[in-house]
Amino acid sequence: MLPEPARDSLLRWLVASQIDSPRRGSAAARDSAHRALEIGEARERTRVARELHDSLGGDLAAAIALFKYYFENPTRSRAAGEVVLRNIHEILELSMKNLRAMLRSMRSHEIGARGLVGDLMDIAEAYRRNHGMDVALDAIGSEEELTQAQQEVVFQVVREALSNVRRHSGSLTCLVKLNFAGQPFVVEVTDRGVGVTDRSPDGYGLVGMRERAAGIGGRLQVVSAPGRGTTIFLFGPQQPLS
Ligand SMILES: Nc1ncnc2c1ncn2[C@@H]1O[C@H](COP(=O)(O)OP(=O)(O)O)[C@@H](O)[C@H]1O
Ligand SMILES: [Mg+2]
Repeated sequence: MLPEPARDSLLRWLVASQIDSPRRGSAAARDSAHRALEIGEARERTRVARELHDSLGGDLAAAIALFKYYFENPTRSRAAGEVVLRNIHEILELSMKNLRAMLRSMRSHEIGARGLVGDLMDIAEAYRRNHGMDVALDAIGSEEELTQAQQEVVFQVVREALSNVRRHSGSLTCLVKLNFAGQPFVVEVTDRGVGVTDRSPDGYGLVGMRERAAGIGGRLQVVSAPGRGTTIFLFGPQQPLS
């Protein structure tokens, strides 16, 4: 299940691309974009169900078990009872924090007043401030070349790629290149860290990036060599020859 605004803009784009079909691409490309959207939604539902089960479900079960113990042992000392209540409080507080983080990660991104590049500059600044990671941004051409749906996908892909650089690459520097003037547009996120190994299968981040790219008729490519870093490429939709 995609969050409503992201779903709406993707569907708007799909409808627009049908009206505009000679310029925007073939019926087959539209069908595959639609299929990618449906597969993406099904996967997202599974992910949300699993996360709710694993985190919220587990926490609530633990809290209920502790309450049960509390009520079934009326002879315990007041101090012992207080320890149990404190544990329950801690579990619920942490659970609330996890739920908030999960909801934040599901929210789609609406490009703000500062535009796509402005929003990415804010993210770069936050990485510098919060993680000591230096994210350089290099933009060619104007983001206005891209539709709103394409801009949102660029934002989501760069955000996930940066999170992967921080969590997995071991590198404290990273370069984001945005070539809006290219046909198709190309976005690259490069680090010089440990690289993606054969033993690192796609998690939900890479799967989600691929699905988002497919949803706008584009594609994602990962180029990596062990010990030499990783580049994530996002290619926009191919423009048919006129
Ligand atoms: N920039 C990177 N550098 C090194 N390894 C990476 C990088 N990006 C992704 N990986 C590897 O690919 C795996 C899958 O990434 P992802 O699909 O985003 O899932 P997650 O981040 O939840 O593990 C990661 O667990 C990691 O092993
Ligand atoms: Mg990830």
